[in-house]
Amino acid sequence: MDDMFYIANWKSHKTEKEGEIFFDKLNSKIKEIDLSNKKIIIAPPFTLLGFCKRAINTHMIPVSLSGQNVSPFPEGAYTGEINAIQLKEFAEYVIIGHSERRKYFHEESNVIENKVREANEAGLKIIQCIQDENDLVFRGVGIVAYEPPSAIGSGNPDDPEHVSYVFDKVMKSYPDVKLLYGGSVNSDTIKNYLSIKTLSGFLIGGASLEAETFLGLLNG
Ligand code: PGA
Repeated sequence: MDDMFYIANWKSHKTEKEGEIFFDKLNSKIKEIDLSNKKIIIAPPFTLLGFCKRAINTHMIPVSLSGQNVSPFPEGAYTGEINAIQLKEFAEYVIIGHSERRKYFHEESNVIENKVREANEAGLKIIQCIQDENDLVFRGVGIVAYEPPSAIGSGNPDDPEHVSYVFDKVMKSYPDVKLLYGGSVNSDTIKNYLSIKTLSGFLIGGASLEAETFLGLLNG
């Protein structure tokens, strides 16, 4: 059986002190969880990647790191951007094309494509977000997270039947990708999706901010 991915997308949350509290709790509780066939990934803000990397190494916990975003450009004069090679020093994965980036930062398809290309060249594993079954998935993407905008942070998750329908459509065009669902996943809603045979995991926002709540999701 393939691993189920549980990806914590912290978005623009947490200071270093708050990250410390999260990891203290995570360390003490993670031993109680059956982690077979489960993969935990944390996507903190860039400012906390170094801290998270040290915390994971110090406590030797089976957690991988992801960026939430990456520059569409290589190294160079692009003030304020973090390029893929820089990100790869800290993270194994990167989330690209999240709908909050499209909505608030006007990220269009060509920008997403450039980010995917940069991330690929740097050897990052890519989690590309799609909003519906018609979104293009770019070459080199291994993981696709279906996140309908109306479900994100709204408490109004998509119907499992519809998620399954979207997954089937995506798989017809991109048979090799792993498929995740994201959008108001929490301890009440997560079990509704676990019976979808093509599901490889979840992208989790709000419910990933507290260690106990996040780890609780791994028990289904
Ligand atoms: P949410 O966010 O779990 O808070 O709905 C999910 C996401 O945007 O990745």
